[in-house]
Amino acid sequence: MKLKIELENGVRLAWPTPIFDRKFDNTEELNRRLVEIIHEKEKIDTGNAKSVTGGWHSSDDVHNWDYPEIRTLVGFITEAVTEMTKVSTGMEADQFGADTTFIAWANILRDGGYHRSHTHPGCAWSGVYYIQTGSDEAAQAENDAAGHIEFYDPRHGVEMVPVPGNPFGQRLSFPPEAGRLYCFPAWLRHMVNPYQGSSERITIAFNVRIENFETFDGS
Ligand SMILES: [Fe+2]
Repeated sequence: MKLKIELENGVRLAWPTPIFDRKFDNTEELNRRLVEIIHEKEKIDTGNAKSVTGGWHSSDDVHNWDYPEIRTLVGFITEAVTEMTKVSTGMEADQFGADTTFIAWANILRDGGYHRSHTHPGCAWSGVYYIQTGSDEAAQAENDAAGHIEFYDPRHGVEMVPVPGNPFGQRLSFPPEAGRLYCFPAWLRHMVNPYQGSSERITIAFNVRIENFETFDGS
């Protein structure tokens, strides 16, 4: 697999942008514990504002919190990063090695809270794991895209001239779902629509750096 897509009618799609999108199974108990852990941390961590408005953003050391549930989550992130690297290199996982470092932080959004448009400079991949969407039906009926993460089309100037179907320059909206993980290139600009509801939207986000990348034949 490589970063190119050829259709059957002689058209090639160039510059595709990979987005890892996986719902992990049997995460109910895991997520319940992660909510408890994050609420405990919020009591002692004043957090920092960064791109969040109307919410709490923890310190950047979630990956080092000493809980089995955090180790499970680190495993999810590792799977995502491996898949993304397979796609970007066109190689299998046993054909490459690298020094991979990452940081992770927890986010809580409360009614009206959102993340402003941003990127994650200095990193290869970024992502988010959803612990709790906090969705309630009344708020959802009012605004179907509340709490969604939205990615901007990264191709400069693509919206300048409309073409049939209007496929260029659109934002892509991905819904939150407990147990789901998205991972994407760190340069891909994104934002989170205001969360609406009486509960909390709780996520763990991460940044990944890959250094000393090397390949071998896997034999
Ligand atoms: Fe982000």
